[in-house]
Amino acid sequence: MLTRREFLELSGATLLLLSLNQLSFATDTEEVFPQGVASGDPTQSGIVLWTRINPKVHRRFQSNLLVQVADNPEFKEAFNRSIPASYISESQDFTVRVDLEGRLRPNKTYYYRFIYAGVPSMLGRFKTLPYRAREVSIAFVVCQNYADGYYTAYSHLAKEELNMVVHLGDFIYEKLYGPSRVPGRDLSLPSGEKVCVNLEDYRYLYRTYLSDPNMRLARAMHPFVNTWDDHEFLNDYYYDYEKEIWGYFVDGHPVGEDRAKILKLRQDAVKAWIEYIPSKVEVDMSNKDPLKWVKIYRDFNLGRLGKLIVLDERSYRERPPCDKRFGAKGCPEQEKTSMLGREQLSWFREKLLQRGFKWKVVANSVQFSRSQTDGKFGSLDAWEGYAGERRKILQWLKEKDMKNLILLSGDRHASMVAEVPDSYEKPSQVLGAEFLTPALSSINAMEGGWWKRDWSNYTSLEELQKAEMSQNPWIKHINSINCWGYSIITLKPDRAECTIYSVNKNKREAEKLIDARFVYRPGVLERV
Ligand SMILES: [Fe+2]
Repeated sequence: MLTRREFLELSGATLLLLSLNQLSFATDTEEVFPQGVASGDPTQSGIVLWTRINPKVHRRFQSNLLVQVADNPEFKEAFNRSIPASYISESQDFTVRVDLEGRLRPNKTYYYRFIYAGVPSMLGRFKTLPYRAREVSIAFVVCQNYADGYYTAYSHLAKEELNMVVHLGDFIYEKLYGPSRVPGRDLSLPSGEKVCVNLEDYRYLYRTYLSDPNMRLARAMHPFVNTWDDHEFLNDYYYDYEKEIWGYFVDGHPVGEDRAKILKLRQDAVKAWIEYIPSKVEVDMSNKDPLKWVKIYRDFNLGRLGKLIVLDERSYRERPPCDKRFGAKGCPEQEKTSMLGREQLSWFREKLLQRGFKWKVVANSVQFSRSQTDGKFGSLDAWEGYAGERRKILQWLKEKDMKNLILLSGDRHASMVAEVPDSYEKPSQVLGAEFLTPALSSINAMEGGWWKRDWSNYTSLEELQKAEMSQNPWIKHINSINCWGYSIITLKPDRAECTIYSVNKNKREAEKLIDARFVYRPGVLERV
């Protein structure tokens, strides 16, 4: 429900859309389009639209699907495209993508809906990217374990005025960690296993996660740009370049170390992601080199105001060094391991140093900032394990005198804000800022209690956080105690403003609170 303040603040068009979409739940619309609608990967002249038809309905009606797009929610002078019934098939799990590249104008709000057998879908909305804009707002989210909490944060995110939502990954969790932490969110994989072992398992998770009304509302109201983290495939996975196979850290996983089984599972995980995430990524599943099957790193021009660089920090990374991933003292291998892989790293360098953009915004799934408390690193699974490559990136920026780096990060299941200095050993200037968004619903350190394993000398998490901040002075804010939600970064010509919102995931309805708000101007990060 909307509060009176929200009602007064929201634009007429947003209010109309929200109320129509909320009415569509529990009607024929829900029956025909059980996973709603979505849009993804906007450009100045295009977008990818997405929906899924209920297989039972399609088997019965075998109807064509109509998509309508207009610059008004009444669909006056809409352009229509018909998708043949044969295109809706089991082979894609009845999902449908429509690429509108070249059909749209820049910096413009469009509305869309699908119509199947006379039944209209919920209404979708998106904005194309601008060439010239004074302001761009991007929400970013991560880690949405369905069984760990409600998507209450998405009900607030749906109401925000945004250019796009960047999803940093862990859109699904391939492993079931036990009974759900809130009522009504238990999961049961078709295979009967506790981890995904085939395509049907992955598809089941996407379908179930997307059955959540708040999730559907957020995807209908804003275009998404997705990257993945590890759980879209396997926990903490990496690539073993010698064996030409992905390694992972899940005890007793049914695929074991069988190369053929792991490669098949990878194909299943990637296929399900592509079916359910509207995006424009390069796919070549028949390539002999598994690393060439899909390329999801890509970039988006936000006009002169910025470039969004989306990284894939899992597919090409080498095994995390030093054997212990959390609470490790470190080892010389940290200097040698690659997070991005050779090709992606050289692509990243080119995009990062390209001139003509005020801000370089990086969708960087895992924590970049160094964090060592009492001589032990927080996570060598994050950039800490790839410190040599991190140093290289900082060096490039320093040499070019660039101080415009904005890192959108996740994975830690906590909120965090930090300066990005030119060097973590001898910091002399600030080159950018890292904003780490909390999990949307996954468990945090307070719930999991995993911090006690390596820092048992602290009596509370609060105390440990204080120690972490004082020993790593670039870190200006951490909350791994009571924060779940989403963040919004607003880019302006002279500054980037970031607000981290906290929404209680244990309640189906909860207000949004401000966890932290910071402003970054080139070289200076300030709490406001
Ligand atoms: Fe996660």
